Amino acid sequence: MEYLTIALTKGRLAKTTMAMLEKAGISCKEVLDPDTRKLIFQNDDLKMRFFLAKGPDVPTYVEYGAADIGISGKDIIMEEGRNIYEVLDLGIGKCRMCVCGPKEAKDLLSHYEQIRVATKYPKIAKDYFYNAKRQTVEIIKLNGSIELSPIVGLSDVIVDIVETGSTLKQNGLCVLEEICPISARMIVNQVSMRMENERIITLIKAVEKVVRENGN
Ligand code: PRP
Repeated sequence: MEYLTIALTKGRLAKTTMAMLEKAGISCKEVLDPDTRKLIFQNDDLKMRFFLAKGPDVPTYVEYGAADIGISGKDIIMEEGRNIYEVLDLGIGKCRMCVCGPKEAKDLLSHYEQIRVATKYPKIAKDYFYNAKRQTVEIIKLNGSIELSPIVGLSDVIVDIVETGSTLKQNGLCVLEEICPISARMIVNQVSMRMENERIITLIKAVEKVVRENGN
């Protein structure tokens, strides 16, 4: 039997994701060992391999078949636009993709002015402003601490994820418009889905059961 490879997202989601997989009988505790520098782990009983990758890289590994399955945020899936199957909402890592800024910027969103939008998600921002709102904007790509941008005058608003809202609050910003809800999703390589259909469907069903039990 071939090994099935699962790509997980490094960072805050990794622990919750592993706990869900563990509950579904897919165990690989080593993945979360903070002392290891090993990049890939194997469960020989299950004939499965696991690795942690940077969020935006997970759909890339899955599209190219370097991983058969991936766990990735919906934000990343939308931004990357890879050819993959999105098969399951894990109901974890829930947050919202929003347009945020100082409350005075609300008017700029209804007057169709050419405004500056800073974001880690240029594709999502472009799609929202150009296709949904039909407002021409200048999009500025940043790589983190996006909330800084309107404070120092780099942009009028930002497009970013909001989870608890505390980063916005502590920086005097607020949600101006909501784009869409976000959560972690299971994604599958299109060829693997055909070649390893039975194993992958069994795995999806096992994780789906955990999602239901968790009430997510
Ligand atoms: C994310 C996001 C916001 C923050 C939202 O940043 O970009 O800045 O979390 O969370 P909150 O609503 O609970 O405050 P992240 O921590 O991933 O780091 P980043 O600034 O490098 O993007």
